[in-house]
Amino acid sequence: MTNQQPQPQLSIQNVQKVFKTGDGVKGVNLEVKKGELVTLLGPSGCGKTTVLRSIGGFLEPDSGDILIEGRSVLNVPPEKRPTAMVFQSYNLWPHMTVFDNLAFGLKIRKRKKEEIRAAVEKALQLVRLPGTENKMPGQLSGGQQQRVAVARALLLEPAVLLLDEPFSALDAKLRLEMREELREIQASTGLTMVFVTHDQEEALSISDRIVVMNAGRIEQIDTPQRIYDHPETLFVAQFIGRMNFLKGQGTGASVDIQGRRFPIARALNGDVTAAVRPEDVFIVENTGSAEAAGQGGSDVFPATVRQVMILGHYAEVTADTAAGPIKLFVPRERAASLYHGQLIPIGFTRVTAYAG
Ligand SMILES: Nc1ncnc2c1ncn2[C@@H]1O[C@H](COP(=O)(O)OP(=O)(O)OP(=O)(O)O)[C@@H](O)[C@H]1O
Ligand SMILES: [Mg+2]
Repeated sequence: MTNQQPQPQLSIQNVQKVFKTGDGVKGVNLEVKKGELVTLLGPSGCGKTTVLRSIGGFLEPDSGDILIEGRSVLNVPPEKRPTAMVFQSYNLWPHMTVFDNLAFGLKIRKRKKEEIRAAVEKALQLVRLPGTENKMPGQLSGGQQQRVAVARALLLEPAVLLLDEPFSALDAKLRLEMREELREIQASTGLTMVFVTHDQEEALSISDRIVVMNAGRIEQIDTPQRIYDHPETLFVAQFIGRMNFLKGQGTGASVDIQGRRFPIARALNGDVTAAVRPEDVFIVENTGSAEAAGQGGSDVFPATVRQVMILGHYAEVTADTAAGPIKLFVPRERAASLYHGQLIPIGFTRVTAYAG
């Protein structure tokens, strides 16, 4: 086994599922390691649920293969697959107690009574709802019901747990709590998870890796950090985080924006769209020099403050430049001395460019 990659827990190979409308999923490849939490992220209709339902067996792909622990599951019905799914709506049986909702799957598997009782108790502890066995789902809040749904999925001890926007029906505060809890559950159980969301912040905060999807295809698979710092395509740059987009000209290893030059990592020529994060825009503070005062250096833009919005410990500033409006983040104290119409020289610490 030396130097050998461990077999992926889940392997999606060239999966295609195109509906009559022409929409669907067009050639998806993804490998998920054991214990990994991978998120499918993308706008509505990009194919996230289609991929998840194909893994769970609720949809049959047109072509391609899906392997779990090295075995193809395509001919296995959903209830026999080593997967469990948590949906956006809790899907608990309303007329059954929490205990019966949780025990159901284990009874079908003919587990012993005592074993079931112990497993249910443990699962409820894991989702922080100990002692709720005898409640009816209707007596629980939305967040609590979703915890029960997660517990029910955990009890099936799936090789891969599938979660389709499980927290999107919950309010913002609860959603944050559930994220943390899911992370803790993952850490304590070592479960492999495929999580679907269209919320980029949710994806960035809980994932080991993110799969960014667009129109049935994968744009990028990477860690949250790399997705944020190195968006590979213009789509990913637009979809993840805040970004300024400026028209420019590629001149090999640099980009020319309105006569200013900035180095770029990947050489490009011709028309490009330059992308700059607001945190990578700074005010050139050395106002003593003529260059910095807005006469223009090779990489300094004269800019006019249009708007200052205080957002807690920092402020979002919009400044007009020859290349268009640019947003930048500045510390709140610095923002206090900025005023509408003020001329500020700005520079960029990092520019990424995309063809077109
Ligand atoms: N059963 C179906 N019949 C026809 N078209 C479908 C079917 N299921 C999904 N589609 C289409 O396939 C595309 C992908 O749908 P999917 O549900 O996978 O998107 P999604 O990324 O989960 O979106 P959302 O964020 O809105 O849940 C969409 O254009 C959708 O309209
Ligand atoms: Mg969906």
